[in-house]
Amino acid sequence: MNILWAITGAGHLLDESIGVLEKLAENNTLTIATSNAACEVLKLYGYDKNIRQLVDKNSANMLVLDSDEKYSFPFSGKLTHHKYDVIIIAPLTANTTAKIVYGIADTLITNIAAQSGKGQIPLIVLPVDQKQGLIKTIIPPYIDKKRCINCKNCIPKDECPQNAINPPKIDTTKCISCFMCEDKCKYDAIKLNEEIELYIRKIDAENTKKLETIENIKVVLKPSEILKEIEKIEKKIELKN
Ligand SMILES: Cc1cc2nc3c(=O)[nH]c(=O)nc-3n(C[C@H](O)[C@H](O)[C@H](O)COP(=O)(O)O)c2cc1C
Repeated sequence: MNILWAITGAGHLLDESIGVLEKLAENNTLTIATSNAACEVLKLYGYDKNIRQLVDKNSANMLVLDSDEKYSFPFSGKLTHHKYDVIIIAPLTANTTAKIVYGIADTLITNIAAQSGKGQIPLIVLPVDQKQGLIKTIIPPYIDKKRCINCKNCIPKDECPQNAINPPKIDTTKCISCFMCEDKCKYDAIKLNEEIELYIRKIDAENTKKLETIENIKVVLKPSEILKEIEKIEKKIELKN
């Protein structure tokens, strides 16, 4: 199948989404599209390299960045030319969810969502803000200011290959979650893979519900459900041929 997979700037469900994307890359042609926030968030969680490897896996694969597009998002206008069998947006941020449910198309990903409907290409989305209330999620590396004592010779700082550690801060535009700093701070001030509780707002959960009412969109709540939905689409294509 020819699959377009779009990624927005959500850390939640990102690891599992990349896992499904990697599975699909084994037998399908992939175009990966990223929002500007996704480019930063992928790097922060250390998935930048995975995306580049996936794109390089097959010469027909492509990477499309929001930052490479013009104001009219020409790539999304050509969705039907590329003959995509299915489009997936996973993970889908609260921000892009809100824009999609109100019909806004002012980024690469919101234009892809709008054009998928116009081109009648099935769209599967995995929104991250699903139910009002608390969720647990992993955050990117950070320095615990209560523990950092600003050592004169900071070993993690000296050894960071990205030059991203500037105590008591980690420069999130440089950090790629390579974890080379793991266990290097004797005060245990560098926190990696920390789980935090986050509150999903009512408005964001309501917007997710509204997604289900949009024609052409299939909402899934777990990354593994994407594979099941793709199987259904594959069967439909087989029957058609
Ligand atoms: C480390 C990190 C993790 C984030 N995780 C989420 C998330 O799980 N869900 C979400 O809705 N926004 C998350 N955001 C915020 C979005 O990236 C931000 O709202 C951005 O404007 C979304 O843009 P996009 O929808 O065009 O990708 C995260 C931001 C950062 C820096």
